[in-house]
Amino acid sequence: GSGQAAVSNFKRKPVIVIVVGMAGSGKTTFMHRLVSHTHESNIRGYVMNLDPAVMTLPFGANIDIRDTVRYKEVMKQFNLGPNGGILTSLNLFATKFDEVVSVIEKRADQLDYVLVDTPGQIEIFTWSASGAIITEAFASTFPTVIAYVVDTPRSASPVTFMSNMLYACSILYKTRLPLVLAFNKIDVAQHQFALEWMEDFETFQAAVSADSSYSSNLAQSLSLVLDEFYKNLRSVGVSAVTGAGMKDFFNAIEASTDEYMETY
Ligand code: GTP
Repeated sequence: GSGQAAVSNFKRKPVIVIVVGMAGSGKTTFMHRLVSHTHESNIRGYVMNLDPAVMTLPFGANIDIRDTVRYKEVMKQFNLGPNGGILTSLNLFATKFDEVVSVIEKRADQLDYVLVDTPGQIEIFTWSASGAIITEAFASTFPTVIAYVVDTPRSASPVTFMSNMLYACSILYKTRLPLVLAFNKIDVAQHQFALEWMEDFETFQAAVSADSSYSSNLAQSLSLVLDEFYKNLRSVGVSAVTGAGMKDFFNAIEASTDEYMETY
């Protein structure tokens, strides 16, 4: 194993898919599409909501943080603002997470996937102790993959693209889990440009130089760093609105799972 505790009864199913993405990336719509896809394809899935502040979910959740933690009460009780309230709610939930894991363990034979939705403010999950505790609890019991949702049309500028990839890179190194990039909204903009930039860093460097508003040695150097990062992930184009790319997405999750299992 790669630093993770070897668990003798570690099973291949269910695969935990933790969905993260910047605000506006379409994470909620993408989750909804994944859930619909599992229903249509007879994939046996569980849905988990980890966003305590969400008012209405467009999909049903089998496990919902809101059933355990009352976000508004937490805000009042601890005199917190919205983000502090979400973070504290997640902390409270994390203390009970072994119970959540055992619920899934009991159902393991009947489940292919657990799709996990995270709070809309990405850093509340990716940069908090409770996010790390939850991720670790999953990953020590089930194969766990991070799905990072990218707003493809918004990433068409080389500098925005690079910022987004650096963020994804930091998640990869923080979690040490397989990462799948879901280039979303391909109904609006194809993700071909991204594949080309990821394939060949010189193409990307040329694009950065051509972007007259920005040109720096730092960007050139970072593209080399990212080149190494790209070798460690899978990317697929999807549209949460049209449903394009769902098969590709699940294939990428499966391939990442195979890789994950090899570390045990
Ligand atoms: P949360 O932060 O979890 O609330 O979600 P989000 O802001 O990441 O995404 P949300 O699902 O709310 O989508 C943001 C906007 O992008 C909405 O206007 C969606 O309709 C739009 N959107 C999401 N997916 C797609 C897509 O595949 N194609 C297009 N054209 N629009 C999309």
